[in-house]
Amino acid sequence: MTTNDLMVEAQKVRKSFGRLEVLKGIDLEVPRGTVTCLIGPSGSGKSTLLRCINHLEKVNAGRLYVDGELIGYREKNGTLYEISEAEAARQRRDIGMVFQSFNLFPHRTVLGNITEAPVHVKGVPLKEAQDRAMQLLETVGLAHKADAYPVQLSGGQQQRVAIARALAMDPKLMLFDEPTSALDPELVGEVLGVMRGLADNGMTMIVVTHEMGFAREVADQVVFMADGVVVEQGTPDEVLGNPQHQRTKDFLSSLLK
Ligand SMILES: Nc1ncnc2c1ncn2[C@@H]1O[C@H](COP(=O)(O)OP(=O)(O)O)[C@@H](O)[C@H]1O
Ligand SMILES: [Mg+2]
Repeated sequence: MTTNDLMVEAQKVRKSFGRLEVLKGIDLEVPRGTVTCLIGPSGSGKSTLLRCINHLEKVNAGRLYVDGELIGYREKNGTLYEISEAEAARQRRDIGMVFQSFNLFPHRTVLGNITEAPVHVKGVPLKEAQDRAMQLLETVGLAHKADAYPVQLSGGQQQRVAIARALAMDPKLMLFDEPTSALDPELVGEVLGVMRGLADNGMTMIVVTHEMGFAREVADQVVFMADGVVVEQGTPDEVLGNPQHQRTKDFLSSLLK
């Protein structure tokens, strides 16, 4: 596979917080138009890796590329220079991120939440941003909630709005960090359904999740992390169906308890 086919490429990425090394040389390749599910015990570095991919965290060593572009740094004659915050923000614009907590603006309507960034960050005319927001609300099944405020929505609905809000920036990559972990069980399916639709439409996605049914059905690749390293990766059948490492087996059986 050439670099050109990859939407995300991590090369020996290391990240420490003080003396605690949480990413110990991560290599990862995410081909365009594919879904990678990132699984592993709490504290293994999954969120940190996602945050490094959009440069919310600086890496200490290694390189991260998104769509062939080095994230967070510029390379000149073999030396890396950190880019400005404005340049990092420009890179981040193309990467949608959805968190466990939905982080909607509480004082803005659903429509206002979705149009905020396109209008204020990208300078999209309001009417155009609203038309696009309505299309996205159709996609996530919430067109009838355009004028509602977040507090009037269920957790599942708020998360679907958060996904629409990320999509409004036309990202080339979507990062999901345990998007259904905060939801009541009966609301998980509607959010996973929206994510499955995105995958079917060819969105490149990295999804940190404990939903093994979703990983099995939607992921092209499953990556199991523990203690800051990739222990095992492969197709869902390989990693979930026939894990090779004891740590993977232990983790998967812990999910069933
Ligand atoms: N900002 C931070 N400062 C210090 N330690 C952190 C910070 N963020 C995460 N960590 C630590 O890094 C490790 C990995 O965390 P995280 O990436 O959140 O793991 P995961 O998402 O797999 O549960 C944990 O030990 C966590 O306490
Ligand atoms: Mg996490």
